[in-house]
Amino acid sequence: MRVFVVGASGAIGTRLVPQLIERRHEVIGTSTSPDKSEHIRALGAEPIVLDLLDPRAVREAVLKAEPDAVVNQATALADVRFTKNLDRSFVQTNRLRTEGTDALLAAARAAGARRFVSQSFASMRYAREGGPVKTEDDPLDSNPVPGMDETRAAMNYLDRAVTDAGGIALRYGLFYGAANDGLIWPVRKRQFPIVGDGGGFSSFIHLDDAAAATVLALELSDTDWSPAIYNVVDDEPAPVHEWLPVLAEALGAKPPRRFPVWLARLFAGDIAVMLGTEARGASNAKAKRELGWSLRCPTWRQGFFETYASPAAAAAARSHANANVGLTRSPSA
Ligand SMILES: NC(=O)c1ccc[n+]([C@@H]2O[C@H](COP(=O)([O-])OP(=O)(O)OC[C@H]3O[C@@H](n4cnc5c(N)ncnc54)[C@H](OP(=O)(O)O)[C@@H]3O)[C@@H](O)[C@H]2O)c1
Repeated sequence: MRVFVVGASGAIGTRLVPQLIERRHEVIGTSTSPDKSEHIRALGAEPIVLDLLDPRAVREAVLKAEPDAVVNQATALADVRFTKNLDRSFVQTNRLRTEGTDALLAAARAAGARRFVSQSFASMRYAREGGPVKTEDDPLDSNPVPGMDETRAAMNYLDRAVTDAGGIALRYGLFYGAANDGLIWPVRKRQFPIVGDGGGFSSFIHLDDAAAATVLALELSDTDWSPAIYNVVDDEPAPVHEWLPVLAEALGAKPPRRFPVWLARLFAGDIAVMLGTEARGASNAKAKRELGWSLRCPTWRQGFFETYASPAAAAAARSHANANVGLTRSPSA
């Protein structure tokens, strides 16, 4: 297949391109700046520079590439500062998820691409009621805490637009598996506390497993292909009070601090409290069953240590630490 990957230079894109090449697909991979073109070429793809928010350029590029399949992995989170207001941090990503999705779907349709697969997100999406682990059929959170309504709406828009157009939306868990993962710095600095009882659930996914599920979705046979949403998460959704101490240990950091809810609300905001105490995890049963997906890293318990605990990983994490910005700030840090 000829596969047009938007966001080939990002965290997931750089894992996806080599897996597609290994499966003998031809890949056209985009970045927003020519600086990344050589890297994309080294991964095995034909690089192009593209701004997903320029619909005319998107149409031209996709028509020229004549792809069989289009994959959207564009987010704009690399240099984002996370504050109490998630919508402020996600302004550009929300535009990519709405305007960008529309532009790419229209271009894919015009080019006659048969497959469309897009990055979506699973963690903290589901309604904060009932059991801790949710399937794709469970209701999404319709009453988000203040500061994340636009982000929630953009993700919902993407899921709907992609499936209405006959495509597949992959609700990935929280990515990990790289030396510059976003959680490294705040956890090393003890700026990611356990809030209250730490009973909020998270779902993680190793970047290589996320890429593998993406390839399998693209390669579904014509008979098995249908518009769908899949949770692409690992086997062990877990409460913060379980995974956070393990991550700290894998990073060689001190154990996380514990904050009462009122203090966390004051310093980190409502969203951090929701994530730490109420969020729900996601089930991967549908993706395993329908995509035939098996995970190399079935649980973060193994994956955190494999990623971070080797001396090389620890050194790389340290060198990236200063470039990252924490999710929360402790009052004493
Ligand atoms: N599920 C999750 O947990 C999740 C999801 C997304 C990101 N993250 C994390 O966020 C951090 C940063 O993510 P990232 O490396 O993927 O970087 P990113 O800045 O989020 O970029 C992702 C990809 O989107 C491209 N892109 C950005 N703006 C675009 C635009 N206007 N038009 C077309 N393409 C555009 C980027 O191109 P350029 O490289 O040229 O900028 C890159 O290829 C990483 O630690 C990652 O793991 C986590």
